[in-house]
Amino acid sequence: MNNPKKGALLYQGKAKSVYKTDDPDYLIMHFNDDATAFNGKKHEIVEGKGELNLRICKRIFEFLSDRIPMAYVETLNKKEMLQKNVEIIPLEVVVRNKIAGSLAKRFGKKAGSDLPFPVIEYFLKSDDLDDPQLTRSHIAAFNIANRTEMEIIEELALQINTILKHFFSVRGIVLVDFKVEFGRYYGDILLADEISPDSARLWEKQDESVLDKDRFRHNLGDLIEGYKIIAKRIGA
Ligand code: TMP
Ligand code: ASP
Repeated sequence: MNNPKKGALLYQGKAKSVYKTDDPDYLIMHFNDDATAFNGKKHEIVEGKGELNLRICKRIFEFLSDRIPMAYVETLNKKEMLQKNVEIIPLEVVVRNKIAGSLAKRFGKKAGSDLPFPVIEYFLKSDDLDDPQLTRSHIAAFNIANRTEMEIIEELALQINTILKHFFSVRGIVLVDFKVEFGRYYGDILLADEISPDSARLWEKQDESVLDKDRFRHNLGDLIEGYKIIAKRIGA
C-alpha cells in the first residue's frame, strides 16, 4: 500500500504517541524511549528502548499474522508502526502461565510456580482508576464489550498465548505472562496496541533471570541489555 501521510497527534500514551494519518482507516504509532511503571509514578527516558521494542513487536506480530487477525500493517521506520485505526476496547487482557507480578501480590502467592492452565484476567484501561480488575459480567453490565466480542477476545488471547509460549520456549525464553488489547474494525475484532517486553514478562529459561520491563520496575538490571537479549534470541 502507499504509506499514508502522518497527521496530527491523536493520543499521547506513556510509552507511545499515536498519530492520525491522511487516511482515516490508518494510524501511526511512534515508539518512544519513555519507560514508566506504577501508572507513570516511575518514569525515565531510556535511550534506544523505542527502537528495540518496535523491532521485537514487529517480529512477534509478523510471526502471529497468519493466524491472528491484527491491526498491525507494517513498520515505517525505526520508531514507527502503521496500524489499522481500530476502535480500542478499553480492556487490558492479561494471560498468565506462571504466578508473578500482581497475581502473586493480590493472592499472597510466591512468584515463579506454574499455573495448571493459562489464567486470563481483565483490567479496565483507566489511569484515573489505576486499571481496576473486571469480571466478564462487569464487562457485559458496563457495556464495555458484548458477549460475542468477549468470546472472540478470550479465544484470541488464549490462542496468542499458545503460539507465543512455544515461540519463546524454543528460543530459550519463558513467557510468564503478557497483556494484549483488542479493537473493533468494520465488524471484526483485531489484536491492537503492542506485544513487547514492556507488556510481557519474559524470563531466561536457564536461570529464570528477568529480561523484561520488570528490570526497570523493580531495579533488576539494565533494561536495554534485557531487551537486546530478547531481540537477538528471536531474530528481531
Ligand atoms: P501484572 O502482574 O502487574 O498485573 O501484569 C501482568 C502483565 O501485564 C505483565 O506481563 C505486564 C503487563 N502490564 C502491562 O502491559 N501494562 C500495565 O499497565 C500493567 C500493570 C501490566
Ligand atoms: N505501563 C504502566 C505504567 O506506565 C504500568 C506498568 O507497565 O507497570 O505505569
